[in-house]
Amino acid sequence: MERKPLIAGNWKMNLGLNESVSLINAIADNISHFPEVDVLVAPPFTALTTVKHAIGNSNIFLSGQNMHWEMSGAFTGEISAGMLQETGCTHIILGHSERRTLFKETSEVIDLKVKAAVALGLIPILCIGETLEQREAGQTYEVIENQLAGSLKSFRVDKGLPSSTVLAYEPVWAIGTGLTATPEQAQEVHYFIRQWIENNFDSELARQIRILYGGSVKPDNVKELMSEADIDGALVGGASLKSNSFVQLIRFQEM
Ligand code: 13P
Repeated sequence: MERKPLIAGNWKMNLGLNESVSLINAIADNISHFPEVDVLVAPPFTALTTVKHAIGNSNIFLSGQNMHWEMSGAFTGEISAGMLQETGCTHIILGHSERRTLFKETSEVIDLKVKAAVALGLIPILCIGETLEQREAGQTYEVIENQLAGSLKSFRVDKGLPSSTVLAYEPVWAIGTGLTATPEQAQEVHYFIRQWIENNFDSELARQIRILYGGSVKPDNVKELMSEADIDGALVGGASLKSNSFVQLIRFQEM
């Protein structure tokens, strides 16, 4: 496959400093000399510097889970792209459904964030996905299209969306529920997303951009998901918090 698989762990609001270091050490020990897959972790802000230090020379990318779109200023409780870069982050998760629903982030706001990240050279991992209600009402593609169009609005005008950008399809009904989309259900939406990129940007970008699946990815379903043509990796919550399961996910090709 020409797109290198990416297995990304979103730790959400979990793990203290000691647990973070133990986890990253265990991951690093198990994946040395394993260049076939890109590996990324997104710890809480407070653990980024410590985790970066523990990562050392291991080939593990570091990501933030959210950021503000301004570079600095009076935004109590917020953190900027530049601050994340100083900790060693190369990536930033944006538009996660927990941000969209619990913190009322709109696609307009997410567009500002994607633009700010790209301007500084941080690679966005842009999340999109429908709720169960929307799926059952037959609105999945409409929701995905609206989220893509809104969250990438600036780029549809100016173009210049880097091919390193990562998209993550995370059906909200599959997050933390144990309900995984079937590989066929996921593939259908991934294919739709890639077509949308081709139609709204260009075929070269559509060919290169990685689209991750997220939502109850586990060692026992990862291989099937990864065998689909348009699934290029996984954005993992629960199963990324334990070294055993996360390392199994990274080594999905051996299963
Ligand atoms: P789970 O793997 O726990 O379902 O979480 C998925 C997710 O939200 C990753 O961003």
